[in-house]
Amino acid sequence: MESAISGVEESGRTLIIGSSGFIGQFVAEVSLASGRPTYLLVRGGRMSSCKAKANAIMSLQEKGAIILQGSLNDKATMEKTLKEHKIEIVISAVGGGSILEQFVLVEAMKSVGTIKRFVPSEFGHDIDRANPVEPGLAMYKEKREVRRLVEGSGVPYTYICCNSIMAWPYHDNTHPADVLPPLDRFHIYGDGTVKAYFVAGSDIGKFTMKCLDDDRTLNKTVHFRPSTNLLSINELASLWEEKIGFKLPRVTVTEDDLLSAAQDMVIPQSIVAALTHDIFIKGCQVNYSLDEPSDVEVTSLYPDMPFKTVDECFGDFAKKIADVPKVVED
Ligand SMILES: NC(=O)c1ccc[n+]([C@@H]2O[C@H](COP(=O)([O-])OP(=O)(O)OC[C@H]3O[C@@H](n4cnc5c(N)ncnc54)[C@H](OP(=O)(O)O)[C@@H]3O)[C@@H](O)[C@H]2O)c1
Repeated sequence: MESAISGVEESGRTLIIGSSGFIGQFVAEVSLASGRPTYLLVRGGRMSSCKAKANAIMSLQEKGAIILQGSLNDKATMEKTLKEHKIEIVISAVGGGSILEQFVLVEAMKSVGTIKRFVPSEFGHDIDRANPVEPGLAMYKEKREVRRLVEGSGVPYTYICCNSIMAWPYHDNTHPADVLPPLDRFHIYGDGTVKAYFVAGSDIGKFTMKCLDDDRTLNKTVHFRPSTNLLSINELASLWEEKIGFKLPRVTVTEDDLLSAAQDMVIPQSIVAALTHDIFIKGCQVNYSLDEPSDVEVTSLYPDMPFKTVDECFGDFAKKIADVPKVVED
């Protein structure tokens, strides 16, 4: 464990857990760009066995991140880390397999008693409202347990419900933003008309960080519902065809197909299939109103801050394609 670093701003010290991961990297990038003193809890040091993760941490360190070694399920280490570095804000972006490990972190924050805001690892749907089929539900139940523990602990919190990551929503890929939209055929879920909100990873980072110093988000659930980014999968398919300049065949993936992929219990793909069913068949992102006192909506909080659009995102994906073979129109 490194000792407290002199010369680091005392105010706003932010600890991010999971910064080598998909969502955590976006959050850490924005935290550093905003000039916040940013600490990253890293398991096994930055010379991680996974080269991509090690490179991600090294790049964040070059931008000014302070690396602390440890695991969030080690209470003594977490208490020492929070106290020694005078951490005020804690953001957890641990993956779906580590959700319950946050229990120890919550206990450590409670015993230290100086945390001004905690963001638990959610970054998806409102897990108290949505009820996906298994194995998605099992992950939601774990996230709900973390919510109840946080609420009982007295640690100030904000829940981030950013909806879908902006990308083609492949039903078997936890990180679809790393992959181009289809170039051979579209898989259309159900009749393809159910809408969802798509938010760029960089905007998940930007608006998550924006919420942290805002009293309006204290002990609230922040929903990301940018109206410009509310699209059905049929609309996504048409937009992608516009960008690549040719049509692709559409293959229907039925509700039963998605349920069957969920029942296969191949983790994490079956979790994604269960959530895909919840989003594009049941409409879990759009079938409720924000009518609880705990609900706040991010575009209402920050009306002057733009979101990246799906049009821009698909334009960026299209630029990555070189020498795409032309497909004959249906
Ligand atoms: N809205 C969406 O479309 C969407 C998409 C993806 C994920 N999510 C949600 O976002 C959250 C993060 O998921 P992700 O896919 O970004 O995760 P991920 O890529 O699997 O990364 C998980 C991160 O957590 C770290 N970690 C795990 N256990 C730890 C521990 N005990 N101590 C310290 N660090 C630990 C990992 O470190 P190592 O490098 O040591 O493994 C890694 O940096 C989850 O709640 C997930 O459900 C939402």
